[in-house]
Amino acid sequence: MDRKSIQVGFLGCGEMGSMLLEAALQDGILTVENTRVAERNPARRDSLKSLGIDVAESPDRLGGCDRIILAVRPQQFEAAAAEVGCSNSPRLAISIMAGIGSHAIRRSLGEQTRVVSCMPNAPVKIHLGVTALMPSENSTEDDLDFAQSLFNTIGTTEVLPESALWAVTAVSGSGPGYVALVAEAMLQEAIELGLDPSVAERLIARTIAGTGQLLTEHAGGPEALRQAVTTPGGTTEAGINRMREMKLVDAIRGGLKAAHDRGESLAGETQ
Ligand SMILES: NC(=O)c1ccc[n+]([C@@H]2O[C@H](COP(=O)([O-])OP(=O)(O)OC[C@H]3O[C@@H](n4cnc5c(N)ncnc54)[C@H](OP(=O)(O)O)[C@@H]3O)[C@@H](O)[C@H]2O)c1
Repeated sequence: MDRKSIQVGFLGCGEMGSMLLEAALQDGILTVENTRVAERNPARRDSLKSLGIDVAESPDRLGGCDRIILAVRPQQFEAAAAEVGCSNSPRLAISIMAGIGSHAIRRSLGEQTRVVSCMPNAPVKIHLGVTALMPSENSTEDDLDFAQSLFNTIGTTEVLPESALWAVTAVSGSGPGYVALVAEAMLQEAIELGLDPSVAERLIARTIAGTGQLLTEHAGGPEALRQAVTTPGGTTEAGINRMREMKLVDAIRGGLKAAHDRGESLAGETQ
């Protein structure tokens, strides 16, 4: 099918949906002509209309779309999907909803629905995020290509099996929270050591951003980077040794495991 004739609908267009829509329009992945939105918040509808987008209040406007981006909150999905309607025709659903699996989506939108589940993380807001794309067994190469081009407008993408959902959520989905906690602890001690709080905040933010960039650009992974920046007998080594004695590594690994297990139990409650 010609990309221009494919109708794409957004079911809900709040913080995440509108950010994704605007980036995709800007990069030419979507056009105002082939996109429509169902959004019940009047203020959001007005701002989308100002972009020239076809916006309606009711999800039943999305019934004829070939591709639907599911961007409502998980607890809003069932009611919103009932208004879109269940269909026997094949169509693609791209879901950014945390914790709603492809089976639940097919149950609501129709068994022929092909699903790509997506887990973006907070830095997508500044187009520096990473989004895990998890196609269901019936989705096609073309579905995945479209999802990749969409989410590449707000960062990078990784393709994973659906079974990786809770591992990915624990690593990159919740990851910005852990890094912020490390930054908080560094800030508390930086102030204790006499640094001006605003200077310390900038030092820490640039240290984390720069280290992330080093990890991205250099082969070898985190262990090689740690070794490269640690002089035997020096300050970094003294700091790391104390952190190890205080079980920092165990604490971080335990935190990721707890996030993973919490995801699994939340999914059990909503499926
Ligand atoms: N924000 C993040 O950092 C982030 C990260 C990863 C994944 N996600 C996922 O992204 C999804 C959206 O999150 P968000 O932060 O963008 O939420 P949001 O700002 O609340 O956006 C959802 C929008 O959908 C509207 N809506 C709900 N039910 C509707 C219906 N039946 N018909 C029409 N519109 C409807 C909501 O209107 P009302 O305001 O009236 O309810 C709201 O404007 C969630 O499932 C979340 O799990 C978010």
